[in-house]
Amino acid sequence: MKSLLALVVLIIYVNQSYGQNFGFDLPASQVFTTAQFNCFVNQAYDTILLQIYSANGEFDQIGLQNVVNAKQSGLWSDAIINPCRNVNNTCKNGLITGVEQALEVIKYMNSSDAPYTYLNLQIQGYKNWPKNQTANQQFIMDFTNTILDAVNSGTYVSGIGIITNYNDWSNIVGPNFTNTSVMDLLWVNWNGQQDLTTGWIPFGGWRAPCMHQYAGNIVTNNCIPGIPTNYYYSDGNCVCHEAYCYSAFHKRRMMTFANKAQKFVRQQ
Ligand SMILES: *[C@@H]1O[C@H](CO)[C@@H](O)[C@H](O)[C@H]1NC(C)=O
Ligand SMILES: *[C@@H]1O[C@H](CO)[C@@H](O)[C@H](O)[C@H]1NC(C)=O
Ligand SMILES: *[C@@H]1O[C@H](CO)[C@@H](O)[C@H](O)[C@H]1NC(C)=O
Ligand SMILES: *[C@@H]1O[C@H](CO)[C@@H](O)[C@H](O)[C@H]1NC(C)=O
Ligand SMILES: *[C@@H]1O[C@H](CO)[C@@H](O)[C@H](O)[C@H]1NC(C)=O
Repeated sequence: MKSLLALVVLIIYVNQSYGQNFGFDLPASQVFTTAQFNCFVNQAYDTILLQIYSANGEFDQIGLQNVVNAKQSGLWSDAIINPCRNVNNTCKNGLITGVEQALEVIKYMNSSDAPYTYLNLQIQGYKNWPKNQTANQQFIMDFTNTILDAVNSGTYVSGIGIITNYNDWSNIVGPNFTNTSVMDLLWVNWNGQQDLTTGWIPFGGWRAPCMHQYAGNIVTNNCIPGIPTNYYYSDGNCVCHEAYCYSAFHKRRMMTFANKAQKFVRQQ
């Protein structure tokens, strides 16, 4: 009887999670507590994105700790990678290429206490990027291919999407560069609309975004005021163009979570 009830609860839970998702991100400026993350959960947020790599060129241990703490509060935690890419090739850790930086991310994430973390590569701030679009394209493909190779070979459980907007994409790699269009797009457009369509103009080969960062740099909230935060919306219906897309990843993650929860309930 108890396990039947548990199953019903789980089915409702999983079904709900396939619907709309409301997310937010937090910078890696400090470690936030599980209690602080819980406050967002109570306000109906279900997804968080945390920066685990910084543009000055180092893996972010604080961000990783936040991924772990956020997971404990029941949020689905995903990661933002702000790659180190600038005209002077000045990266704190000396890792310059897309391959090197991706391997660094894998090294830390794979050995961490945070399995099932989806990665999003942020392609923004074009003024800081080198002007050579061909070289920028190569950097991005090197990074994403390195992650996907590890995922394909079964040695690392994740997936990778792109965070960008029309203006940054056009300046950094050119408007017609479409090689990453099989990956999910997290579209940045601070128009305040919790949808995937208002103001959407296709670019980069993407027909539709998977998620929308609809508001940003907002420092007022009831949970952790004073910290600049961006907000996200997804309708849970992204079309999947490759095996390791976000929706497939998220389904697998939810089933794993459901199995664990079910085992836990059965043991009660
Ligand atoms: C790159 O290095 C040059 C020479 O040291 C310096 O003048 C310039 O400000 C640097 N640019 C950036 C974006 O750091
Ligand atoms: C741009 O980058 C490509 C690939 O790294 C290189 O072959 C090419 O020479 C570069 N172009 C310029 C103008 O530096
Ligand atoms: C993008 O795809 C085209 C066509 O497959 C290929 O020729 C090109 O080398 C790719 N560019 C990069 C940077 O991988
Ligand atoms: C990730 O960790 C597992 C288990 O420790 C290991 O077998 C695997 O080779 C690691 N993957 C990568 C890409 O380093
Ligand atoms: C991009 O492609 C369109 C349509 O093929 C073309 O009109 C435009 O000139 C291209 N833009 C660049 C910057 O290559």
